[in-house]
Amino acid sequence: MSYRTHWQLDPQIDFLNHGSFGATPRVVTAAQRAFQDELEWDPIEFLAPERSLNSKLDHVRQIVSDLVGADPSDLAFVRNATEGVNAVLRSLPLDAGDEIMVTNHGYNACTNAADYVAKRSGATVRVAHIPFPLSGVDAVMDAVERELHGRTRLLLIDHVTSPTGVVFPIAPVIELAHQRGVRVLVDGAHGPGMVPLNLNTLDADYYTANHHKWLCGPKVSGLLWVAPQWHEEIRPTVISHAANRPQSDRSRFLAEFDWTGTFDPSPLLALPTAIDFLSSLFPAGMRGLMNANHAAAIAARNVLAETLEIDPPVPDAMLGSLVTVPLPAASSRSRDQWASLQQRLREHHRFELPVFPGFVAGTWFLRISLQAYNDIQQVERLAEVLRAELAS
Ligand SMILES: Cc1ncc(COP(=O)(O)O)c(C=O)c1O
Repeated sequence: MSYRTHWQLDPQIDFLNHGSFGATPRVVTAAQRAFQDELEWDPIEFLAPERSLNSKLDHVRQIVSDLVGADPSDLAFVRNATEGVNAVLRSLPLDAGDEIMVTNHGYNACTNAADYVAKRSGATVRVAHIPFPLSGVDAVMDAVERELHGRTRLLLIDHVTSPTGVVFPIAPVIELAHQRGVRVLVDGAHGPGMVPLNLNTLDADYYTANHHKWLCGPKVSGLLWVAPQWHEEIRPTVISHAANRPQSDRSRFLAEFDWTGTFDPSPLLALPTAIDFLSSLFPAGMRGLMNANHAAAIAARNVLAETLEIDPPVPDAMLGSLVTVPLPAASSRSRDQWASLQQRLREHHRFELPVFPGFVAGTWFLRISLQAYNDIQQVERLAEVLRAELAS
């Protein structure tokens, strides 16, 4: 069955890049618009936290908490994962000589935030180099363990990596880091809606994620889960009223994140519609959608691997619904060819997907994302185009 009509995506383009900003179903944007209309009908009644906003946010918080296995008192809202990562890093006590650890699969914006706070306090950022192609979980554990040091204060690690689409084994990574007394911030930008989550049992110190990616919520909204022992310490990136005006119905932690200045809450308020919609697509609900997207990603990866004559770069069990393949770099001619491929795919072949430099100079990666509105025929058409590129 084609789910494509539920999204307003341009039918002229094969959109294989859900991973970057997500795409929002029509029913969800309609719900968002209805909230915006309601807001403009009676702005103070709608937006003043103590009138009706706080209880509306708490309703959404309960729904999101149920989805990600969290206690609502640990779950704050942020605009996006970048903001969540910044809030944690900027709240972290760091001394000169301390270290923050990141990985080479990390998201550039978040690594930049780590660099910024480290430099500010004379700390340093250490990078764990995890290979790609990747043989399995052990390669991740070994790379992380090798770089954990006595001065490591925090490990920032992705749940699902942006450049390589790998689902990292975050539970054992967290256990390892905790054995060394190191806190863990999981950048789960792609987590909710792509992989099952239980934040209560995961035992991270912090987990931040986007609602606008794999939950198909309106742009923009995200979550920041914080373990209870860090509630006192963490502050949002923007300080507002709650810093000196406690609210009787919520902790300072929630009150500060719930109001960082006037904002448009409609993306958050429409999120339950997105969760309901996605959960309605398959008999097994959200889990059914995740499984279907994962199966589609494996099928797509197989088509691309066969076309490019490469081995699958990541074990199936370490994939979600984001797939990266390295492009063959046999000759300098193919290097030039790959550098302009993304633009050619868009302009000549009506595909939207990222092609970008790999970890080793001169190599290139191609990434596709599979959401309910995609189908394998789109990937087969892409394979045909790539075959022609290889032959030219
Ligand atoms: C792993 C990862 N972290 C963080 C982000 C940043 O997301 P946002 O720009 O919504 O904050 C992304 C976006 O693609 C991502 O893939």
